[in-house]
Amino acid sequence: MKAIAISNQARNLEDLRKLAAGLELVGELSCHQGDLGEMSMLPTKDEVDVLLLDCRHGGSAPMSDLERLMSFYPRLNVILAVDQESPELLLRALRAGVREVIRSPLAREDLQAAFHRIHQKIRGTQRGDGRVLAFMSCKGGSGASFLATNLGYALARRTDKRVLLIDLNLQFGDAVLYLSDRRPASTLPDVTRDVQRIDMSLLKSAQIEILSNYSILASAEDPTQSMDIRPTQVEALLRFARANYDYVLLDVGRSLDTCSIQALDLADQIYPVLQLTLPFLRDAKRLFDVYRSLDYGVDKVRPLLNRIERTPGDLSLQDAERHLQYKVFASLPNHFKSVAASVNQGVPILALDAGSPVSRSLEELADRIAERTPAPSRGLISRLFARA
Ligand SMILES: Nc1ncnc2c1ncn2[C@@H]1O[C@H](COP(=O)(O)OP(=O)(O)O)[C@@H](O)[C@H]1O
Ligand SMILES: [Mg+2]
Repeated sequence: MKAIAISNQARNLEDLRKLAAGLELVGELSCHQGDLGEMSMLPTKDEVDVLLLDCRHGGSAPMSDLERLMSFYPRLNVILAVDQESPELLLRALRAGVREVIRSPLAREDLQAAFHRIHQKIRGTQRGDGRVLAFMSCKGGSGASFLATNLGYALARRTDKRVLLIDLNLQFGDAVLYLSDRRPASTLPDVTRDVQRIDMSLLKSAQIEILSNYSILASAEDPTQSMDIRPTQVEALLRFARANYDYVLLDVGRSLDTCSIQALDLADQIYPVLQLTLPFLRDAKRLFDVYRSLDYGVDKVRPLLNRIERTPGDLSLQDAERHLQYKVFASLPNHFKSVAASVNQGVPILALDAGSPVSRSLEELADRIAERTPAPSRGLISRLFARA
């Protein structure tokens, strides 16, 4: 999300900048010193999602100025930073349309929680409810298909949410093999061909059910069948899937073409998978340069380092981050025995060997993605009513 911070105190502004640096979901934060009352419009040409307004100077919060400004930016979400949160202030803030107030001394967790709530709200209103997570292989054999399919299983098992994996590896998709020995009656091109008339029964007829809340839509066995799939069909399928599932995981493979870019554009997050050796880093760098040129920021791109060894190699995680200029989201251990057994039998690793280090890492990753760990901090409305 794009955010702007405004304060008339240089010191407070610097404080906010530091506090917001590196927070999840905060893609860009521009800082402006000045009084809200003297601004007819926000001092930015870009569309911003969040205004972080600092009112920590002892005086009262400039609510009427804020109300006036918000009438020009109906989709703007405001976080007020205040010294004291009196019930009067909270009420005025609510009336002005502000849903987030944080109090000094400002805590990083409070600010992060506010950004998360705003993000949830934006997603709920502007799109279907589900989240689209795209997995890409930086180089063949990175582990993208293995991780995507098994992460889908972990998400479904640990959250009770509806999870769908779509194999968008149009030519050589193999995702279904990682989860099941059954073969579907129909596949992706059968669904996209008729996508304008898509409904749940069409989608379900092409799926293989792995758990009651986890299914997979396989790609065609014959690569030529997928040659006619168009980006608009991919878009329609993903929008439909997002509206009907909580998590839509995509195995995008490693090809960059109009269909995969359409999928990446629509994805909430992209998880490129790579390993810590030079050939992987080299290919990852080329892929990440493309991400940058497509304007995919650090809140969208979440690199996964796969097959990390306990004995450190020549390259470190820091080397990778420096080289790629994206922060690594998670690392997964190398464990040949359990992964090979899972892959060879076509059974999810969590079902086969729950104690494997790879299984445990997948569970942790699923929890992070589902945001299950942080205890929900209380929003403004519950705080207000708790005082009443
Ligand atoms: N964490 C891991 N530990 C050990 N082996 C792994 C791990 N992740 C993946 N593999 C192996 O790597 C192979 C290639 O993975 P795959 O998901 O097909 O790569 P990609 O889809 O990126 O081309 C898998 O068949 C599996 O045997
Ligand atoms: Mg693959």
